[in-house]
Amino acid sequence: MKRTLGTCYYPEHWPEAEWPRDAARMAEVGLTWVRIGEFAWSRLEPEPGDLRFDWLDRAIAVLGDAGLKVVLGTPTATPPRWMLDRHPDMLAVDAEGRPRGFGSRRHYCFSHDGYREESARITRLLAERYGASPHVAAWQTDNEYGCHDTVISYSEAARTAFRAWCAARYGSIEALNAAWGNVFWSMEYGRFDQIGLPNLTVTEPNPAHALAFRRFSSEQVARFNAVQVGIIRDHCDAPISHNFMGREVAFDHYEVARQMEIATWDSYPMGFLEDRLEEDAAHKRRYARQGDPDLQAFHHDLYRAVGNGRWWVMEQQPGPVNWAPCNPAPLPGMARLWAWEAFAHGAEAVCYFRWRQAPFAQEQMHAGMLRPDSAPAPAYHEAAEVARELAALPEVEVAQAPVGLVFDYAAAWAWQVQPQGQGQDYFRLVFETYRALRKLGQSVDILPPDTGDLSGYRLVLAPGAVTLTEAFKVALAAHGGRVILGPRSNAKTAEMHIPVPLPPAIPGLDVTVARVQSLRADMPVPVAGGGHVKLWLEELEGGAEVVLATAADSQPVAMRSGNVTYLGGWLDEAALGDLLGAALHKAGLAPTAMPGGLRRRQAGTTEFLINYDAEPVEWDGLTLPAAGVHWRRVGAGAA
Ligand code: GAL
Repeated sequence: MKRTLGTCYYPEHWPEAEWPRDAARMAEVGLTWVRIGEFAWSRLEPEPGDLRFDWLDRAIAVLGDAGLKVVLGTPTATPPRWMLDRHPDMLAVDAEGRPRGFGSRRHYCFSHDGYREESARITRLLAERYGASPHVAAWQTDNEYGCHDTVISYSEAARTAFRAWCAARYGSIEALNAAWGNVFWSMEYGRFDQIGLPNLTVTEPNPAHALAFRRFSSEQVARFNAVQVGIIRDHCDAPISHNFMGREVAFDHYEVARQMEIATWDSYPMGFLEDRLEEDAAHKRRYARQGDPDLQAFHHDLYRAVGNGRWWVMEQQPGPVNWAPCNPAPLPGMARLWAWEAFAHGAEAVCYFRWRQAPFAQEQMHAGMLRPDSAPAPAYHEAAEVARELAALPEVEVAQAPVGLVFDYAAAWAWQVQPQGQGQDYFRLVFETYRALRKLGQSVDILPPDTGDLSGYRLVLAPGAVTLTEAFKVALAAHGGRVILGPRSNAKTAEMHIPVPLPPAIPGLDVTVARVQSLRADMPVPVAGGGHVKLWLEELEGGAEVVLATAADSQPVAMRSGNVTYLGGWLDEAALGDLLGAALHKAGLAPTAMPGGLRRRQAGTTEFLINYDAEPVEWDGLTLPAAGVHWRRVGAGAA
C-alpha cells in the first residue's frame, strides 16, 4: 500500500481568492488528502433551513481540481447558536448539574433525541450532495468524541435514556437491584423511573450504578455515530472514519470503530507529554521538544487494533500547540519523525493539523504548516521531505507482532469507578507495561479484550483487565505461548462484585488473591532481585511456583503455573523490566535493552529505528542523529 500525507484545511476561514493557491501548494508539497468541513455548520446553515452549500461545492472543486482527495467531515461537533433556540435542553450537563455553555464546541448531549435528529439531518444533506462527488474520497463523522470531557452528561435527556437502558439490560427492577447489590444502604428501587444518575450523591454512589452509567454513556456515543454512518453509507462507498484522541477512554473505541472502515487519531506528542502523562519533571524536560518516546507508538498500535488494521493519523502536531501547560517548539526534524513513526506502525496516511495558522479565535497561537502570513512554517518543509522519502521508500509492511497486550475500555471505567487509592489508573498501568516492552526492543500488538484467538503470540499480557471476557478465557486455555495476567486481572464481575471463588480464578493457575492493598506513593515495597512494587500489592496464596517475592519477608508477588504467570503487584520500571526480560527470554524473544529514547519497530522485513533523544545515539553499529529515523532490512523472523 502506498502511504500518503495530508492536511486539515478550513476554506471558510480564508478568502475564496486564496483557495486555488492553497490547493496548488498542498499538491506541490506532495500532500494527497485534505480534510475539511468538520466545524463549518454556521456557514452551511446560518439560519435553520437556510442552506448555503455553494461555497463548499466550490471549495471541493478547487481542491479536487488540484489533484487532492477530500475527507469531508460532518459538522456536528459544533452546533451553531440557533440550535440552542430550537433545543434549549440539548446542552450536556456536568457532574455538578451545570449545563455546559455555548461559545466553544462539543456542547451537545449524546442522549438528546432532538439533537441526534439534527445531526442526522445535516449528515443526510451532506451525503446526498457529496456522496457521488469524485473528489470526496473519505468521510469523517463529527470530531473527537470525548474531547473536553464530553462523553458523560448528567442531563435530563441522559436520565430518561439511562432508565430505558437499565430496563432493557436488566429486564426487571428486582434483577437490577440484585445485580447492583442495592440491598446495601437500602438503595433498592421499586421502579425503573425512580433511578437517578450517579452524581450529586452524598458520598460515593454504588460502583455498580456508576459502572452501568459509564457503559450506557459509551453506548450513547456508538449510537450517535451509527446514525451518521448509516446515512453516509446509503449515499456512497467511500470509507468512513472518526478522529479519536490520545489517552481518551470514556467510551469503547472498538465498538464505535467497528461501524466504520478506518480508525484515525489525533497525535499531539508534545502537548500530551505535558498534560497527559504521570512522568516526572526530568523526563518531561528531556523530551520537551520531542514528546514521549512511547506514547505515540502506543496509540498507533492501539488504533491499529481499534481500526482492525486500517488506521491514519488525522491530525499531526506541526509545531507549538496552544493548549498544553507549556508549548515549546519541536526540535527540527520532529514533524518528519512523527510521520515516519506512524508509517512504521502501519498508518495509511498522516495529515498535519493544520494547513495555515489562524490569526483569530481560540487557536490563533497554534502552529500550522504555514504561518498566518502564508509563509512556510518548519513543518511545511519537513512534510515535503517525508513526501519525497515516501516516493523513494519500498512498501512498509504490517506483520503480526510476537507480543500481544490487551487494552480494555471497560477495565478503565472499573478502575475509575473504584480506584481503591490515589494514582490507580488503568491506562497508566497498561502504558507502563507497553513502555517496558519497548525498552526491551519489542514490537507489540494491542489486543481487544474479546480477542478469541491468540495464536502467533509468544507472549500475551493482560494487566489490570478487571473482567476477562469469556472469549479471552477460552483463547487463554487454548494458548500455548506465555501469558502474564495481573495485577487486578479478572478481579471483578461485569457488575462490579468480587467473584467467589476469589480472583484470578483461571483454570489451571493455582493462585488466589487473598487480600489487596494500595500503597502510598512514598511506601514502595522492595522485591528480591531489585526494584519495587509501587501503588498496588496483592497477597497471593496457592501452590503455583513463586517467580517473584518481596525482599524483606519473601511474600509472593508473582506466581506461575505452566505457561501462565499471575503478577500481584504494580511493579516499578526496574522490577518490571526484569520480569518481562525473563519472560521474553523464555518465550524465545530476545530482549534487547534500547538506549535512552531510541526505539525500534519491526514492520515485516523492515526495521525502523527512531531516536526521540535530542542528542545523537550510537547503537548496533549505527549513529542516529537527534530526531533521527533509520530503516533497514532484517530477516522476516528476527525479533
Ligand atoms: C484537536 C482538535 C482540533 C484542534 C486541535 C488543536 O483536539 O480535533 O480541532 O482543536 O486539537 O491541537
